[in-house]
Amino acid sequence: MRSKVTKAIFPVAGMGTRFLPATKSVPKEIMTLVDRPLIQYAIDEARAAGIKEFIFVTSRGKGALEDYFDHSPQLESELRKRGKDDLLEALKSTNMDSGAIAYIRQHKALGLGHAVWCARRLIANEPFAVILPDDVIAAEKPCLQQMVEAYEEVGGSMVAAMEVPMEKASSYGVLDVAEDHGTIVDVKGMVEKPPMGEAPSNLAVIGRYIITPDVLRSLNKMKQGAGGEIQLTDAIAQEVEEGRGVRGLRFQGQRFDCGSKAGFLQATVAFGLARDDLRDELQDYLTELMTTNKAAQ
Ligand code: G1P
Repeated sequence: MRSKVTKAIFPVAGMGTRFLPATKSVPKEIMTLVDRPLIQYAIDEARAAGIKEFIFVTSRGKGALEDYFDHSPQLESELRKRGKDDLLEALKSTNMDSGAIAYIRQHKALGLGHAVWCARRLIANEPFAVILPDDVIAAEKPCLQQMVEAYEEVGGSMVAAMEVPMEKASSYGVLDVAEDHGTIVDVKGMVEKPPMGEAPSNLAVIGRYIITPDVLRSLNKMKQGAGGEIQLTDAIAQEVEEGRGVRGLRFQGQRFDCGSKAGFLQATVAFGLARDDLRDELQDYLTELMTTNKAAQ
């Protein structure tokens, strides 16, 4: 029997400089797609995959994140008085059981691998998940759940994988494929942000990982990699070197890069169109916009 994956690490220490000035006082993870912060999408996905403990690796200025997951008795009693059951229901998804959530500070911005390593004392000898909230994935079956199910069958470390245009590969961790089984890909190497023209494939790592405790041990010894940072990609690649399995999962679903402005806007439109209460109005607006644009051309 493989150990169940019940813990997830959410690296949320980044400064979010791409979204300045907004992120001067609002953590990027609190920025909203329609009416829910980015982090809520990540939490919901983790819960659906059976995660019970949520570990946030934070930094200075992320207080709003802690408040977001706190209970809000005053607000709740006010909504109850006014009979706003739907809003009370919406608030429920933000509440965490006592003890289910932990915050660890990453004191220096030394990279994703370092952020994960900062949480090492909260992980026992067990596999765990890592979710990067910038990558929002719309899917019928949530991406991490797809991964947990696959992991239960094949074990090892696993990353979410997606084909990207070759010229974009240098923005990602990229898989060197040993054997392609379709949904699952056996990996013989991984390169973080390969220079243009040197990517071993166009299969990119997307921000969902299931990681075995061996990777944490490698992170203990990890040196700086691409961009001078301690890379999670390098620590996972080390697994291959040591003869342990690493696999990519081509997940079903649409990924939005909410770390970029264009991706964030696309996600806003897509999630707006997916909502029964907004679809018609938004669709009419978009159609009108397109037709006037075409007419102008
Ligand atoms: C991180 C990872 C990279 C991965 C990417 C996915 O990079 O280091 O391997 O492909 O997330 O979004 P970042 O985008 O934080 O630079």
